[in-house]
Amino acid sequence: MSATKAKRTSARAAPVRRRQARGLEAIGVLTSGGDAPGMNAAIRAVVRSALGHGVAVFGVQRGYEGLMEADLIALNRRSVGNIIQRGGSVLGSSRAPKFRTKAGRQKARRVLEAHGIGGLVVIGGGGTMRGARALVALDGGPVCVAVPATIDNDICGTDRSIGFDTAINTALNALDNIRDTAHTVELLHFVEVMGRDCGWIALMTGVGGGAEAAILPETPTDVDALCHRIDERLSAGKRGVIVVVAEGGFDGGATQLAKEVGAQLKLEYRVNILGHIQRGGQPSASDRVLASQLGVAAVDALFSGRTGVMVGEVDRRVVTTPFDEAIRRRRGLDRDLIRLMSLLA
Ligand code: F6P
Repeated sequence: MSATKAKRTSARAAPVRRRQARGLEAIGVLTSGGDAPGMNAAIRAVVRSALGHGVAVFGVQRGYEGLMEADLIALNRRSVGNIIQRGGSVLGSSRAPKFRTKAGRQKARRVLEAHGIGGLVVIGGGGTMRGARALVALDGGPVCVAVPATIDNDICGTDRSIGFDTAINTALNALDNIRDTAHTVELLHFVEVMGRDCGWIALMTGVGGGAEAAILPETPTDVDALCHRIDERLSAGKRGVIVVVAEGGFDGGATQLAKEVGAQLKLEYRVNILGHIQRGGQPSASDRVLASQLGVAAVDALFSGRTGVMVGEVDRRVVTTPFDEAIRRRRGLDRDLIRLMSLLA
C-alpha cells in the first residue's frame, strides 16, 4: 500500500458523502492466508464500489493478525490506484493462529467496533472463510462476505477461485521451457507444482502441457504402472517425458517419486520444484476480471444485508454460497479431465 496515499488508523476515514446503506458506516477489507494473483484487483473493486455506497473503507493489513493488532488504514479511491496489475496483496497477508482462539477473535471484534466498522470483506481461501465464520458468530460480530482467492482452486461454490488461472499459466510456462530441454537432452523430468491437498494445478498443467502423467492427491499412484507406461512410450520413440506432480500427490513429493521411477527404469532424471513462483506474478486477464466482478459482488451482497456468505462464479453467473457449504469439503477434480490426462499422454 502506498504510504503517501493511505493514512494510518489515527487518521480519519474519508468523509461519508452519501446515504449509509443498512446501517453500515464503514467497512473493512482484508486478505488472508496464502496470497493469490488477483487479490489486489479484488481489493480495488471492494474499495471503489464500497466508496460508491457512501461509506468509509478501511484496509486491514496482514489479515486477521493485523485485525487483532488494529493495523488498519483508511483507504480512498487513489489508495488502490495502479495495483490491478500487481501480484501479491498490497494489504499483506498472514496465517494467524491466535485468531483461532475466541480471545483473539474478541480482540478483533473490539478493534472493528472502535473503528465503527460494521461490515467486513475477506479475500482468501478455506482458512480465511473459517475465520470469518467464527468472527460472524461472535456476539456483536460484524457482517461479513468472502471472496474466494487461492491458487489451489479448492473452494466449493465457485467454478474458479481468484489466482488459479494465473498460477496454472505460470506452471505451464515452466513446463514448456522444460519440454524444450527434455526434447533435446533425453532425460526424465519431474515437475512439482503446488497443491498440498488438491490436484487442480497439477491436473490442468498436465493436460495443458501434454505431460505423461499428473500425480494427484485425490487419486492413488501406482509407481509400477507409471514406470511401465513411461517405458512403453520411450520404446515407441517418445522423447521428452515429463511427469507433473502435485506437492501432496506422492509421499516425499516429486523428489521421491523421481527417485523410485529412476531406480526402477534405470534412467537418469531431473526434478524441478516450482514452489512459490506459482503464487506471484502479474494476474492474468481472467483473474483480474473475475476479481473485479467478485469484489463488487461482495460489496453488493453486504449492502443488501447478506452475511456469512461467499460470492463466487458458477456457469459464468455470480452466486452466493453460505460459508458452511463453501468450506464443508474441498472442490473435487473434474473426472473428465482426469480421463483426458491418460487418454492424450
Ligand atoms: O496457496 C495454497 C498453497 O499454495 C498450497 O498449495 C501450498 O501447499 C501452500 O499454499 C504452501 O504455502 P506456504 O508454504 O506459504 O505455507
